[in-house]
Amino acid sequence: MTKILIETINLKKTYRHSNVNVTLFNNLNLKIKQGDLVALVGPSGSGKSSLLHLLALLDEPTKGDIKINDVYTKKFTDEKKDETRRKNISIIFQDNNLLNDFNAIENVMMPLIIKGENLVNAKKKAQTILKAVKILERSLHFPKELSGGEQQRVAIARALIAETNLVLADEPTGNLDFKTSLEIFSYFLKLKKLKKTIIFATHNRELANRADYKLLISNGDIKRVNAR
Ligand SMILES: Nc1ncnc2c1ncn2[C@@H]1O[C@H](COP(=O)(O)OP(=O)(O)O)[C@@H](O)[C@H]1O
Ligand SMILES: [Mg+2]
Repeated sequence: MTKILIETINLKKTYRHSNVNVTLFNNLNLKIKQGDLVALVGPSGSGKSSLLHLLALLDEPTKGDIKINDVYTKKFTDEKKDETRRKNISIIFQDNNLLNDFNAIENVMMPLIIKGENLVNAKKKAQTILKAVKILERSLHFPKELSGGEQQRVAIARALIAETNLVLADEPTGNLDFKTSLEIFSYFLKLKKLKKTIIFATHNRELANRADYKLLISNGDIKRVNAR
């Protein structure tokens, strides 16, 4: 049986807006397996980003818990959360993914440098991956010298190099044309082949339909919908 990588247990998220509580979801019980490619869909404001932040342990649930690799995370200290994230999770946001003061290859090397891997090895690995995402020739460009699509590819390369089992992507193709979006998506398929789990929020129906299944959030409810 395929392993459950991340699980939510009676998860609830409520925000307080000028004395009114807005509940994004309640009693959410998700089980997401290793190798699942999941599209998170729903109208703007339905809670996609909030859910991704919770799954990334970047925010606290109002109630409930999140299990990663079978371990409850609610009682984790901030250090333990950082460590769990570093070891298990790569995050790709819609924009502002890259460190502006570092060039493309340095950005990609960053997860390995943080892990303490030696620079020569880190650089070799980064070059291999930049080549795979077809952007090796931009290695020395700084983020502001790259197009949106190129920046996203560098961010994907950084997610790939980290070799984490979970990739969370918040509208990663939101700023991109369809052809580039398909390219980005093809890297998700590669990650899936490597048994990585990818959860990506998207407004793009075509891409969502190519996932293994969709999670549809709307009006405080989350439903699993088969994509095909
Ligand atoms: N930090 C916050 N404080 C208060 N309300 C928030 C906060 N973050 C998000 N919200 C509210 O939660 C709802 C869902 O937001 P979000 O998760 O960003 O939705 P989506 O990503 O689906 O567009 C929105 O109504 C938003 O205004
Ligand atoms: Mg969002």
